[in-house]
Amino acid sequence: MIDTTKDQTLRILEKPEFSKDDIIFLLQTDFECRNILYRKAAEIKEKYVGKKTYFRGLIEFSNKCAKNCYYCGIRAGNKETERYELDIETILSAVRFAWENQYASVVLQGGEREDEDFVQKITEILQKAKSMTNGQIGITLSLGEQTEEVYRMWKENGADRYLLRIESSNRDLYYKIHPNDKFHNFDRRIDCLKILKKLEYQVGTGVMIGLPFQTYEILADDLLFFKAIDVDMVGMGPYIVHENTPLAEFENLLLSTEERFNLSLKMTAILRILMKDINIAAATALQAIDPVGREKAIKVGANIIMPNITPSENRKNYLLYQNKPCIDEGADDCTTCLEARINISGDEIGYGERGDAIHYKNKNF
Ligand code: 5AD
Ligand code: SF4
Ligand code: FES
Repeated sequence: MIDTTKDQTLRILEKPEFSKDDIIFLLQTDFECRNILYRKAAEIKEKYVGKKTYFRGLIEFSNKCAKNCYYCGIRAGNKETERYELDIETILSAVRFAWENQYASVVLQGGEREDEDFVQKITEILQKAKSMTNGQIGITLSLGEQTEEVYRMWKENGADRYLLRIESSNRDLYYKIHPNDKFHNFDRRIDCLKILKKLEYQVGTGVMIGLPFQTYEILADDLLFFKAIDVDMVGMGPYIVHENTPLAEFENLLLSTEERFNLSLKMTAILRILMKDINIAAATALQAIDPVGREKAIKVGANIIMPNITPSENRKNYLLYQNKPCIDEGADDCTTCLEARINISGDEIGYGERGDAIHYKNKNF
């Protein structure tokens, strides 16, 4: 009997564990086989986390960054970007908006800084945001590498979750997309993830998909890395060129945007099957390629979406990549828009529920 690609896909999807080769095979599926993978991921999502999507109000509160990642539009070296930093009151109004609109969770994201003023400011925001919501709002920080003391202080003052993308779990690729200096250290990033776990944060990481020099093998290793470090949350999306960055020079090496998009959906679907009860975000970058990109990710396994609630006037300066969506909209627009979109995708929105990762709840600290 001839073993067709379809037979092979079906056989792999029946396995209790995937080998690295299985993942590499699945990453290359197309047409009918890709749809079989997507259907399996949707089934697993419904069974383990339900047909529910949770909102996280995203506050991009500062684009001042001390680092110089080669792919990112707000890197310190990009002198074209006008820098901003929201004051505490403005950030708290965004938190209030999220709370009043039943989001139950917010994400505070900004460029990486470790100075004392910055650390104190975050501590104060955490305290005030918690007391304003009777200690109930879920707070995710996405503020890069910090010392153990700082992570501990933020946890003690109300941070629940921490997102720190490893960007690539492959050391060589990491140093192709970051400067090789003391500010960009692969080992420190891994150590930070370990510290965050030790401090009992809900920990999230992720990678960019479709980077120059990236291979299927590296992407398979990324997925196995998430499993090995046993993360609670993953956010990963397509790499999108920002013309004012050093990595733009390698644009000719990239897969097409459509291929990067499809690869991102396949990564999401395979991850849902590998780590059934974690939270997986539908990356905003998907929508830079496909107007309904985030909804497509929801259909194949993602269960978290981050409506942008940054004040409209600042959004144009938080351009990590080109074609970033929602630049001219306000918080209300994104809420209404995403509500309609999620309903179309067949999921229910978990209004008023924090939507902590079931994977984390099962850890029984
Ligand atoms: N394309 C896609 N994602 C990007 N990020 C930064 N620059 C880009 C880009 N050009 C992602 C990184 C970072 C997150 C905040 O945004 O993965 O961790
Ligand atoms: Fe700074 Fe993050 Fe952009 Fe790197 S990816 S330059 S750390 S904002
Ligand atoms: Fe922001 Fe649709 S999600 S405008």
